[in-house]
Amino acid sequence: MAISSTKVIPSTSAIPEHVAIIMDGNGRWASQRFLPRTAGHAKGVQSVRSAVETCGNAGVRYLTLFAFSSENWRRPADEVSLLMRLFVQALEREVSRLQDQGVRLRVVGDLSPFEPKLQELILQAQDSTSQNDALHLTIAANYGGRWDILQATRRMLVAHPELAAHPDQLDEQQLSSYLSMSWAPEPDLFIRTGGEQRISNFLIWQLAYTELFFTECYWPDFGSAELHQAFEWYSTRERRFGRTSAQVHGLAKT
Ligand code: FPP
Repeated sequence: MAISSTKVIPSTSAIPEHVAIIMDGNGRWASQRFLPRTAGHAKGVQSVRSAVETCGNAGVRYLTLFAFSSENWRRPADEVSLLMRLFVQALEREVSRLQDQGVRLRVVGDLSPFEPKLQELILQAQDSTSQNDALHLTIAANYGGRWDILQATRRMLVAHPELAAHPDQLDEQQLSSYLSMSWAPEPDLFIRTGGEQRISNFLIWQLAYTELFFTECYWPDFGSAELHQAFEWYSTRERRFGRTSAQVHGLAKT
């Protein structure tokens, strides 16, 4: 279950336990090379592969990738359909590699608008990797942080209608247990490639105390060396979770 950083100081280590990434810059990577934007997405799949391998080898336990936001439906139809094809291909081709690496795959988001074949492949891939535990890979597809908080609230009220009359009984822990990634700890390190410095409606509840790393590097160029640079930066951060520096170092009363 997710532990709220506002109540308990999670244990920290040099390597983040949970890394969340917005993979941005595919289109610009392609345009720089006079290629169609879709070529950037195709190259981006290689960076996904590399991130999974690097995180697994480094001892990261949870890797969450923002592949398609609720807002991405507004893109040109051919780009949306290429992205869907890439998801289908990746699910068809990569699952055996994920098995070999002990990776458990989950997809979070509102999957209902996806074509039935894609939904079926997602369910199969989740099912066939469900016993793996080396790395928990989550793909956020048609996901939005506000959607997640809303769906959590709705499901919680259906399960506990009495809360509507007693809202004071509701606490963070209870609501967060209905979020779509309730089984994972909150991300320690957030990375956004491509130069923008925004959260863009990614895990907005869970990123409250996460260290935020922004890089100009486009996602197709983001390989193992770049990921290790982000880990390096993370290891220098002092995570205080609202406390003072002296408290964190045990020099003052907690
Ligand atoms: C953002 O770049 C990237 C996306 C919207 C899609 C990410 C998808 C992949 C990396 C490929 C498939 C992923 C999986 C998990 C199989 P952008 O198009 O916004 O780039 P731009 O800002 O340069 O235009």
